[in-house]
Amino acid sequence: MKYGRVLLEDVEGYVPGEQPQTSDVIKLNTNENPYPPSPRVIEALQSVSVNALRRYPDPVSLNFRAACARRYGLPNADWVIAGNGMDEVLAMAVRTFVDPDDAILTTYPTYTLYETLAQLHGAHIVEVDLDENFQLPEAFFETPARLVFLTRPNAPTGVAVPKGAVERLCESFDGIVFLDEAYVDFADAHCMDLVQQYDNLIVGRSFSKSYSLAGMRLGIGVAQPAIIDEFLKTKDSYNMNAVAQRVGKAAIEDAATLEANTARIRATRGRVTNALTELGFEVPESQANFLFAQWKGSPSAKTLFESLRDRGIFVRYFNARRLDHALRISIGTDAEMDALLTALGEMIAPVRA
Ligand SMILES: Cc1ncc(COP(=O)(O)O)c(C=O)c1O
Repeated sequence: MKYGRVLLEDVEGYVPGEQPQTSDVIKLNTNENPYPPSPRVIEALQSVSVNALRRYPDPVSLNFRAACARRYGLPNADWVIAGNGMDEVLAMAVRTFVDPDDAILTTYPTYTLYETLAQLHGAHIVEVDLDENFQLPEAFFETPARLVFLTRPNAPTGVAVPKGAVERLCESFDGIVFLDEAYVDFADAHCMDLVQQYDNLIVGRSFSKSYSLAGMRLGIGVAQPAIIDEFLKTKDSYNMNAVAQRVGKAAIEDAATLEANTARIRATRGRVTNALTELGFEVPESQANFLFAQWKGSPSAKTLFESLRDRGIFVRYFNARRLDHALRISIGTDAEMDALLTALGEMIAPVRA
């Protein structure tokens, strides 16, 4: 059981009680956004009144959900469920649509929380291996389950399956399809429009990456009203605090800041992909705000990870099948990425010479 995995594994460089961002390390290990959130978010924070803190928040986050529906061209708030981070929406989906002993289908590799949630719920996780290009094999479409978690773009590879594969899954899968689009604002195409077409589809979004709000904990699930109704029955009474509801509304209404920040990150992503390839890494085309830099040379990927850590540059290393030859590197500012590339160049050059 990997409960508590975040503190133990994910947040390298984290000092309990301190904001990891305030330390002087270069933190490229949890796919946070290096740029500040929308100025409207700051205004929303400053406008929080004492009464808003003294009173309970709106239990159904209506204004926030309505703003999300408007943003995605959906009829109204009945199409959106709000969560304390998308992680809470994922947990709610398991609680709402899966019974203990049911099967939950997903891919390998993917976001490890799905397995943890299945274990906590007493459900079985069925992982189907992605093919050598990190695409879906036929077996994935043939495996029955109550719920499927598909991540697009996937983590930790950054690879996005074609939108057609999502449509095929929605048509053929006899259960709920949870499409995790945590990183999709950095991608060429999303599947939000499919929720109007498929009554078994939930599209999940996170505000932690593209909206620079990991600390606020905001996420949503978008689906047809019959599914959202089920979520509303099982969610905690006041799952969204008053501040997060305001901030989320302000963030989603500022499409321009989202566009500007994601464009910057995509540009840096392209440049760093090329630079890593020059250094000898194999980097599948990423549609996310991180790169899966595969390294078959020497020193090993694990040694590179440790040497970077010793220099105060934190990237992510997975000691797991199909992943242990790679570094997952979040896209930071251009200066941070230059520091990373310089450090990697110095570690690799002596071996190559
Ligand atoms: C694939 C994927 N889904 C969901 C999440 C959770 O996002 P949130 O911070 O909104 O809980 C993450 C966070 O890293 C993720 O990588």
